[in-house]
Amino acid sequence: MAVAGSAVGLGNFLRFPVQAAQNGGGAFMVPYILAMLLLGIPLAWVEWTMGRYGGQHQHGGGPGVFHRLTGGKPWAKYLGIITIFIPLCITFYYIYIETWTLSFAFFSLTGQYQDAVAAHEMDKFLAGFMGAESNKYFDGPWTAISIFSIVFALNYWVLYKGISGGIEKLSKIGMPILFVCGIILAVRVLTLGSPVAEHPDWNVNNALGFMWNPDWSRLDEAKVWIAAAGQIFFTLSVGMGCIMTYASYLKSRDDVALSGLTATSANEFAEVVLGGSIAVVAAAVFFGVAGAQEIAKQGSFNLGFVTMPYIFAQMGGEGLIGFIWFILLFVAGVTSSVSLIEPLVTFLKDELNMTRGKAIFATGLVNLFITGFIIATIKHGTLDEMDFWAGSVLPVVSGLIMVLIFNIYLGIDKGWDEMHHGALIQIPKFYKFIIRFITPAYLILLLTFWAIQEWWPIATMQGVEADKASWISITRLVMAGFLVLLVYWVWKADKQGKFPKLHKEAK
Ligand code: ALA
Repeated sequence: MAVAGSAVGLGNFLRFPVQAAQNGGGAFMVPYILAMLLLGIPLAWVEWTMGRYGGQHQHGGGPGVFHRLTGGKPWAKYLGIITIFIPLCITFYYIYIETWTLSFAFFSLTGQYQDAVAAHEMDKFLAGFMGAESNKYFDGPWTAISIFSIVFALNYWVLYKGISGGIEKLSKIGMPILFVCGIILAVRVLTLGSPVAEHPDWNVNNALGFMWNPDWSRLDEAKVWIAAAGQIFFTLSVGMGCIMTYASYLKSRDDVALSGLTATSANEFAEVVLGGSIAVVAAAVFFGVAGAQEIAKQGSFNLGFVTMPYIFAQMGGEGLIGFIWFILLFVAGVTSSVSLIEPLVTFLKDELNMTRGKAIFATGLVNLFITGFIIATIKHGTLDEMDFWAGSVLPVVSGLIMVLIFNIYLGIDKGWDEMHHGALIQIPKFYKFIIRFITPAYLILLLTFWAIQEWWPIATMQGVEADKASWISITRLVMAGFLVLLVYWVWKADKQGKFPKLHKEAK
């Protein structure tokens, strides 16, 4: 349930529908399902297995797990940093977006955005709220900062309560709420009919057609395949280190095979069935197919925080539907963000012998500092820059590292047995072949295409104006600073004898 909570997040309700609508509608589901079967599910099993294995040897974070699995290779613990670096870098901006969701839930009830629903007014409302400009709605980011303190405190309070007292309880309460809200919204949207009297063709049927009719010609584009794989990584939280950390708390005979599959299934129900029926479909009902196309082009934030409030205002119901939408996003967000923070907390606790309280304090301090930087500089595109690396590129790199370590050092036969230790299902045998050859080859191919098509121009900031380029460089420096801190912590843990030389049989 906790891993499902980690997986079901803002990615399901905001990122997925936009990705699908932009990349061929129903046709997007072909590379998406392939990526799920050949990358997402096998990597989830690998990560669960590696995590539980590490936990048996008193290591809850990537550095210790990689150290142990490689038989104590000196570079492995440093490579493992990627599984802490990624989730924290995502946290730095994710927790701020979570703040918007709670704020907008509140604004839905107070009717605060009701006056802003005319064209472009909602943009202003959001820009004012984020602190990107001062206007008649907000004078500076103070409302956002106050609500941020509540969201921040809630996350760390849950973490402070511990794995079963905090995370487990949150998942048990949050997940049912989330599914109920999602189902209510999907039913509401699918029963909208054609609410705009002048445009009878703006109806649910055509909206669903827009979202799901396949545009097969798009499958020729590498971009669409890359987007589908990127979405699978983000939505399943694979390659990020969260699953590895959660699994390290399992007992040696706790199942990982069925758990990996059920967490994935729960996520896919929330993403494809619910996420695919709410935001973009509602946008196409209220703005027509052409309008929805434009909205999808402007990205997930625009859809969630500009278009959706406008639509809710038209739906009536005194802000209740808007409240349900934003609470859904908030609950989805918080069950994910605790999983993104936990890898660093577990690392500090396990490898630097900190108490849970101290580990939370240290993590919180770093979090506060870097999220503060993002809040203060969001209008310069710093959030997007961090999301590009931590949310899109690095999980794929980290997934490749994990599957290679699994195959090369644990070995597929031993790894397969380990995966089935206490398993409640037998994984089909052909997955042995997939994990050994297909998943790594798919990832290498993807990373090569991605590097040629996207990374290089972005990494070298081609065509970016000077002012924006300097903010991008500063963001990269902040991320590099955080990386240096993690390297220092791993070095320190090593000095304290946490990563001892291992004899062959220990491996
Ligand atoms: N898996 C999380 C999401 O979809 C990070 O938002």
